[in-house]
Amino acid sequence: MRATHGIFAALSAGFSLSSAAACSKQGLLLVSSYPFESSPGEIVKGGVTTLKLGNKGLEQVGEISSICGTNPSWQTLVGGDQYYCINENFDDGPGAFTSAKVNTDGTLAFVGNSSTPGGPVHIALFGENGERAITSNFASSSLDVFNIEDPAKLQSLDNKPFPPRADSNTITSRPHQAVVDPTGGFVVIPDLSVDVLHIFNIDQTALTLTELPAHPFGNGTGPRHAAFLKSGDKTFLYVIAEKKVSILGFEVSYGTNSLTLSEKFNIRTDGSENAPAEGSSGAEITISPNNRFLTVSTRNETTLEYTSVADGTKIPSDALNTFSIDPVTGELTHVQSAPAGGSFPRHFSFNKDGSLVAVACGGENRVNVFERDVVTGMIGKAVGERVLTTQVNHVIFKE
Ligand SMILES: *[C@@H]1O[C@H](CO)[C@@H](O)[C@H](O)[C@H]1NC(C)=O
Ligand SMILES: *[C@@H]1O[C@H](CO)[C@@H](O)[C@H](O)[C@H]1NC(C)=O
Ligand SMILES: *[C@@H]1O[C@H](CO)[C@@H](O)[C@H](O)[C@H]1NC(C)=O
Repeated sequence: MRATHGIFAALSAGFSLSSAAACSKQGLLLVSSYPFESSPGEIVKGGVTTLKLGNKGLEQVGEISSICGTNPSWQTLVGGDQYYCINENFDDGPGAFTSAKVNTDGTLAFVGNSSTPGGPVHIALFGENGERAITSNFASSSLDVFNIEDPAKLQSLDNKPFPPRADSNTITSRPHQAVVDPTGGFVVIPDLSVDVLHIFNIDQTALTLTELPAHPFGNGTGPRHAAFLKSGDKTFLYVIAEKKVSILGFEVSYGTNSLTLSEKFNIRTDGSENAPAEGSSGAEITISPNNRFLTVSTRNETTLEYTSVADGTKIPSDALNTFSIDPVTGELTHVQSAPAGGSFPRHFSFNKDGSLVAVACGGENRVNVFERDVVTGMIGKAVGERVLTTQVNHVIFKE
């Protein structure tokens, strides 16, 4: 179970505001949320919310959608309007994988669904035309592979279970994400509790997965998410460690049907030499669309402050830390600690050209959108903010 499930925030649920700042940026955002305990014993069901960014900041479009169930944890958008989401359904039983069309106003129209093993937290697509999807089933320690060629008929083809830790079989596997490499020939899966990166070879004709030797991490690292970067003739992999609150950098080597990693560095998520704050945890890691910057979010370190553009209220804020990437060595140089706009930024994402960043702050059910300078990588002023009634966990742009 994640740290922030069911926390009772001091802010009353339903309190919403939108930025009055004039904003030339227009767009739609899709936000998934867990349920929220608005007052003791009162649970507001989770779902997917559409937000519209415009002159009045962020406004909600329509009602919260339950087509992904009431505990959706991840969303994937393909080609502008083909949408996929998963229901983590952490309280009981199997999860669900749903496909939908995004209407022009940003609302969702159900297309198809299938059940998954318990607790899926991520969707990855593979195949030249994205014919297959992988769900990372955190709670049930496995991957599922789906045929998604017909989005109305999501068909489970394969399940890859992961064993517990070799040195402690009561510690079960927690696959948190599946990341396809730039060649499309491999997929890596950070396992939060077994402290390995599972590696699979993708047969790009048969669209099947074959497991290769895993890459081990130090005990208690907690690899959560990862991002590949192809730079010139080199490939780098960056992994965020939830438990050690660090970023590990690797150079990737390819052999015949093999992918191996050599570690280049292991640094704190804020680029400092300081020990991580007690109770803090690494969350998301994303490379900018122009491949020049890497940004990470850290939960529960609340070193910064965010000032609401709507009314000037100041709230404690976790950070989004940005690093520039040396294109030759893959080394990172810290360039900015920017307020995430609240606490527990489990997920954030860039828009297509990298000029905006949207952040899901689960601590206050808050979604923030900031301007971003694509040349310097610096995150700038807030152009939209909104507090939802549910515990936000993931936000993407629909462009
Ligand atoms: C699929 O969607 C239908 C219709 O909304 C719903 O009744 C069913 O529970 C969903 N299946 C799963 C596995 O969630
Ligand atoms: C790794 O940590 C687990 C507890 O998290 C412990 O049970 C195990 O003995 C440790 N293994 C090593 C090699 O230190
Ligand atoms: C946040 O950190 C504090 C200590 O700084 C800790 O007491 C608390 O349990 C943490 N919260 C969560 C939800 O992990």
